[in-house]
This record gives sequence, structure tokens and C-alpha cells, in this order.
Amino acid sequence: MINQVLLRPTVFEDETPLSLEHVPGTLPHREKQLIFLAQLFRSLIEKPGSTSQRVLITGPVGTGKTVMAQRFGLDLVKIARGRKIGLRYIHVNCRECKGSLFAVLRKVMNEFEEQFPKRGFSSEELLQAIMRILDEKNLFLILALDELEALLEADNSALYALTRVQEDRVTSPVRLSLICMLRELKYLELLDRSTVSTLQQNLIELNPYVSNELFTILKDRVTLAFKEGAVQDETIELAADIASSSGDARYVIELLWRAGKYADYDESKDVKPEYVRKAAGTVYPTLRDEYLRTLSLNEKLFLLALSRYLEDNDAAYASMGEVEEAYKVVCEEYNSQPRAHTQFWKYMRLLSATGLISTKLSSKGAKGRTTLIGLSLISASTMKKCIEAALEVFSTDVARKRRIT
Ligand SMILES: Nc1ncnc2c1ncn2[C@@H]1O[C@H](COP(=O)(O)OP(=O)(O)OP(=O)(O)O)[C@@H](O)[C@H]1O
Ligand SMILES: [Mg+2]
Repeated sequence: MINQVLLRPTVFEDETPLSLEHVPGTLPHREKQLIFLAQLFRSLIEKPGSTSQRVLITGPVGTGKTVMAQRFGLDLVKIARGRKIGLRYIHVNCRECKGSLFAVLRKVMNEFEEQFPKRGFSSEELLQAIMRILDEKNLFLILALDELEALLEADNSALYALTRVQEDRVTSPVRLSLICMLRELKYLELLDRSTVSTLQQNLIELNPYVSNELFTILKDRVTLAFKEGAVQDETIELAADIASSSGDARYVIELLWRAGKYADYDESKDVKPEYVRKAAGTVYPTLRDEYLRTLSLNEKLFLLALSRYLEDNDAAYASMGEVEEAYKVVCEEYNSQPRAHTQFWKYMRLLSATGLISTKLSSKGAKGRTTLIGLSLISASTMKKCIEAALEVFSTDVARKRRIT
């Protein structure tokens, strides 16, 4: 059966350029920002060790924060290599590290020494050890902290520790620079004033893409990923128009990939606009598989409890207590031990930092203020379906493991 599918014709030439990991050679509509970055980091190439840079890139979902930092990192490392400068660019996603500075630094350390002991170090010591390695090997490091909100929510002194380590080394060469990525500037409120002001000096704000910008971004990908003639401009235009309400480049790329899959399913030689419309009914701009994959079981149970509560009660927000009650019921259903209140609170903070839920304080009632939790970007019923499907995979995995052992 699989063999039969493999023999079928396809509209795709190579799907890799449509994957999330792909870093295109050029980034249309981000040229000015890349030049600004290059100007900031110029001294790192011309006078390595003389200054450290701290840059902040902000912008809503899918505006190119991650890909821009990666493209810049790759290009700068290449140039440095040509000049025999030991420059490393390390990109770490703080959400995947669950907002832990220690986990972030471990990822950095792993790039240098895989054998480094896993335990017995504080983050402060780990950071010092990294700086020592940089000194020993005469390396300069650009550390890109992606989805920084997770780190700020979990530990608001983490960034301070990273900026201070450089300042403490007055006589040594400057080795560590930072590129931070953040969706919303409001998270800066969690930081001390001096860190905020350095970051604000080098601020790159990205706006959502408008329809014709999404068109050019998509057109580039189509040329790389689809067979010649398989996608007409009309189809690309439609996808760009649909995605322009969010301005999210990831969404527009996913839309077209999915539309291509529908074309293949129908054994159609071209990706008709109708396939894009069909794809728009199944691809949700804000709930990415990538997100679901990195959520822990309890975070999924939290989201399921919240979305069920909101749907059943036709409510916009639920109180912390109401969600916690619903969470206990869901835990029972999935045979999982509910976590204590403090841990539950942490899940809420982390999910809020990643933009999956929104929180606000209630107006003052009989029992004082309480935290209200809602879903800002996606409907409760869609969230419920996505999480249930993700948990389904989980429970069959568990069942399978049980059967094997
Ligand atoms: N100017 C551009 N040119 C080409 N591709 C782009 C451009 N901007 C974004 N993309 C592509 O769109 C997708 C989303 O971009 P990216 O992941 O960088 O967004 P983001 O701002 O980091 O989003 P998030 O806030 O969700 O992390 C990626 O596949 C990226 O390669
Ligand atoms: Mg990103």
C-alpha cells in the first residue's frame, strides 16, 4: 500500500524548503533588518573581543524572528571563518528548555563538550565554565535566545546573569554576545531597568507581513519545493490573502504545503486554489505541531481542562480554581496523578508565556482578586480536539510500552 503511494505522481519537487527547519538563503522583506544586525555586529569581525552586543528582535508569530537570527548567524560565522576568527553561533529555544537557564546553558555546553557532567553544577558555575572554554579556545559566542518569554517568566534574573558575566570580566576579551527574540515587548517589564535599557537600544521590531510580502516569500519557496508549473500565481495569491489577516509567514507556508498534499491525494497535476481553501479549513495559524510536541503531559492536561471548561460553560474566561478542578477530573480520566497547586501555577505561567493561553486579574470580588484564564488565539473546541488527538497518541504509546514490558 505504501509502495503504491510512493509510485503516484506528486506536485512536489522537494518538500524540504517547506519544512520549519529550512533556513532560506535570502529573506525577502527583512533585508533592512539584516543590514542593521550586520552593522551592530561589525566590530565582532573587525575587532574581535572589543565589544559585546545585545540585540532584541520582537514581532508577532511568524514574522521571521527565528529565521532572521539563524540566517544572520550562519552568514556571520562564515565570514568570521574566512578571517580566521573563532566565532560560534548557538541558537537555543527557551520554551523547549522550559524556561530554565540551566537547561539553556547545558545546551550551549553540549556544543563544546559532550562529556560535561550532567549534575553537580549551578547555572552560575556552568556559565563560568563556558566562559573558561571560550577563553581557552579563543572563541567568541553569539548566543541566540529564542522565545525568551519562557525564560523571563520562569526566572527574571537569568538574563541579568548572562549580561553581567561579561561585565565582571573587565580585563578579559569580550566573548559573549546575545540576540534575544521575544513576541511581545511587555515581557521586558519583568526585567531590571539596566538590562531593559541595553536591550532597547538595539531593538528590531518586525511587523506582520502584508499580503504582497507573503506572496514574494511564498513564491520563492514554491520555486524550490514544487514542480515547475504545479502552482499558479493565482493560488499563491489566494494563500497570501488568507494568511494576511495574521501576517504569519509560517501559516502561509503550511497552507501551501497542505494544499499540495490535497493535490497529490486527488492525483491532480496542479495545486488549484480550491486546495488552498480546503487547507485553510484544517490548518490553524496559531497551534503548531511543533508546540504540541514540546508540551509536557501535564501542560496538555491543563489545556484540555481549560478548553473543556470554556466550551461546556460557553465562557470567555475561567478562574484558576475552576480550571484546577477541571484539571483534576481530566487527570483521573487519563490515569495521571494531578500536580500540586504550585506546579499547576507554573504550568499556567509557562503556557501564558508561550501565548497559548491568556491571563488577567479579575475585578475585585467577594474573595478578592483571582486570576482568570482564557484562550486568546484559538477556539476552545479546536484546542480540545488538538489536545485530545495529541493525548491519544500519548496513551497509545503508553499502552504499547505496557504491552511490551
Ligand atoms: N522574510 C522571510 N523570507 C522567507 N521566509 C520567511 C521570512 N520570514 C519568515 N519566513 C519563514 O516563515 C516561517 C516562520 O518564520 P519564523 O519561525 O522565523 O517566525 P517567528 O517570528 O520566529 O515566529 P514565532 O513567534 O512563532 O517563533 C519560517 O518557516 C521562516 O523560514
Ligand atoms: Mg520563532
